[in-house]
Amino acid sequence: MDIYINQAKTRKPEFHLQNKNISYIIGVLPNQHLGSLYFGNKLQNNTSFSHLQQQAHGHVPITPELMADVPGFSLDLARAEYPSFGQGDYRTPAIILKQENGSTLSDFKYVDYQIIDGKPTMEGLPQTYVDTDDEAKTLQVILKDPVINAQLILSYTIFRDFPVITRQAQLINQSTQTLQIQKLASASFDLPSEAAMGYKAFYFSGNWSREMQYVAKKLEHEKISIASNRGTSSAIHQPFIGLQKGIVTEDMGEVYGLSLIYSGNHECSAEIDQYGNVRTSLGINPFNFSWQLKPQQKFQSPEAVMVYSNSGLSGMSHTFHELYRNRLARGKFRNAERPILLNNWEATYFDFNEEQIVEIARKGKELGIELFVLDDGWFGNRNNDHTGLGDWFDNFEKLPSGIKGVADKIVGMGLQFGLWFEPEMVNKDSELYRKHPDWILEVPDRPNSPSRNQHTLDLSRADVCDYIYQCVAGHLESAQISYIKWDMNRPMTEVMSHGLSADHQGELAHRYMLGLYGILEKLTTNFPNVLFESCASGGNRFDGGMLYYMPQAWASDNTDAISRLSIQHGASMIYPISAIGSHVSATPNHQTGRTTDIKTRADVAYFGAFGYELDLNQLSEKEQNEVAEQIAFYKQYRGIIQHGTFHRLLAPYEGNAAAWMCVNADQTIAVVAHYRIKLRPNYGFERLKLKGLDPNRDYIIESTAALSHQTALGDELMQSGLLFDHHLFHDALYTSEIGDYKSRIVVLKAEQ
Ligand code: DGJ
Repeated sequence: MDIYINQAKTRKPEFHLQNKNISYIIGVLPNQHLGSLYFGNKLQNNTSFSHLQQQAHGHVPITPELMADVPGFSLDLARAEYPSFGQGDYRTPAIILKQENGSTLSDFKYVDYQIIDGKPTMEGLPQTYVDTDDEAKTLQVILKDPVINAQLILSYTIFRDFPVITRQAQLINQSTQTLQIQKLASASFDLPSEAAMGYKAFYFSGNWSREMQYVAKKLEHEKISIASNRGTSSAIHQPFIGLQKGIVTEDMGEVYGLSLIYSGNHECSAEIDQYGNVRTSLGINPFNFSWQLKPQQKFQSPEAVMVYSNSGLSGMSHTFHELYRNRLARGKFRNAERPILLNNWEATYFDFNEEQIVEIARKGKELGIELFVLDDGWFGNRNNDHTGLGDWFDNFEKLPSGIKGVADKIVGMGLQFGLWFEPEMVNKDSELYRKHPDWILEVPDRPNSPSRNQHTLDLSRADVCDYIYQCVAGHLESAQISYIKWDMNRPMTEVMSHGLSADHQGELAHRYMLGLYGILEKLTTNFPNVLFESCASGGNRFDGGMLYYMPQAWASDNTDAISRLSIQHGASMIYPISAIGSHVSATPNHQTGRTTDIKTRADVAYFGAFGYELDLNQLSEKEQNEVAEQIAFYKQYRGIIQHGTFHRLLAPYEGNAAAWMCVNADQTIAVVAHYRIKLRPNYGFERLKLKGLDPNRDYIIESTAALSHQTALGDELMQSGLLFDHHLFHDALYTSEIGDYKSRIVVLKAEQ
């Protein structure tokens, strides 16, 4: 890994960030702005790459020419690294600064740079990190707008071991006027036209209960914007945008994956201009955002992570998995095997008493569960979703032993105990609201729109953040709690704070996130032995920001195994398997009404931080035995599933099946799952090509499904595939392998 500075002594240096896989090259344009020169496969360094910049050698009709002495130079044609609007670049700007004279034009010119070993830490925001300084180098380019008198520092980190550049921008107001930041992107860069091949944009959209749906779309001369203005990163649009150059498959082709480490309003856009260049930009959503930057104040953007892959989507995912699992997630659970949990939500909803809870947990313990999680309904007057949020004190009527007593009982059985909180919210019918009606987000003289009967607490206020911290910390200090599910169940509306003056209201959505991150930083620092799982009605805030504090996230409220195929498949494009909370629940499924075997449900849920979410006492003896076997299976292989290399074999949206597999680091053990969605009678043989095996090793094949072979070489399994038996009209007729929604698990073990 290195950062080369070409023409270092001039006013127009070039910066070439290079590691064994990638090169990222930027240079200084004739007008002293930064320009994008190259991002892709590693290039050898050259004395200059300025010829890669696009510049006409004469007048181009209807393009503004900025510099009389450089004919043909126009920002309309240039590939910019951090563009602004107003001097001839009409595409998406990275920065919009409103000055006291009303102008929004800014003109940041290159001044200087510095190179830092490692990766400097940002205060108060989630971010990737290094353990030792030799893992990365950081370039900070310093730009200045001399008219405004403001400094812009663009940070670029290149990692030694990952084909990744992380970026971040910081603005410092050195003037005597207040600047209004209307946009400060985390990253923006322009790739050149790929006229013959074109670009596809891809992203993950969805909704409650169908999160993370993969979408890929050919980009024409247009702009697409993947954004949230809901106050959370949201299930509607994941804070991510990707580009595929030409033909891309799971294992082939050039892919750029751009992920924003942020949990609030975001915008990630891709735009093809009139010359076929593509500009991507990602950061805090500028819609309704404005930040007053007083003289001498600084503002920092969240971090953007830019992954390059020349081996298709799988190459991109492997990089994200490694990086996010090892250098974004933190703390003692980062690389730990996650406990198998049993959550009571779908078992009881609000309707439970202490005895029932203890009985559910007892059955879990009997079948091998390690952690029991008490979900919503344990506190205050919380017997339905109309009341009680905010009142984080014991409800002795419901749980006579209180949380401490219940925790003692559960721990006494040999289980760990976990507790649900939704600390950012309040019901109007609560003691908290009656005491502090001004603690919610609301617009004076306007009705406040409830969602799930609740309102959002104003986390831009220090007193609210202190209250939340005290409530959660109080329970963690007094009871034996090993796990917290941190929920958040509504989008924001009426986003106004009683604590901010009119000119600061545009800061509120971001200040909220800073408040939340502050609470989470303090809790995770002070309680390092507690495992935190984030949740927002399922996957409404499943993002890199949350992952920094909480190493796993409840991926969806939809626990139906078949729906989960596309949700978890999509999530696996960015997030490691250890981060994807997935549970076996009852059938008919509560979200879809679909009935699937308990085997299929477990076979899908295995590919995540695994657990159960039903009353195990209600299962037949046969099913309970199966559950015990499933738990034993997962305990044996979870290290490989959660922390091995994950491969997508078949995509559920491309055909009638999905398949995934995980392989351990030395390629001696693999767990393969194949899910057939609909049975097609007498349709033919199913052959599944595997990935990631050692081509030269013989593998013993253990399978829950009938297979034609018991051992095979890795290369055969990867090139020719596993051949599943064709059952129809044979012995298997009327057996459990016949029907819709069936799954198979295959374990491969290398022969010694
Ligand atoms: C929404 C979550 O996604 C569910 O898992 C559950 O915790 C409920 N909230 C409880 O209200």
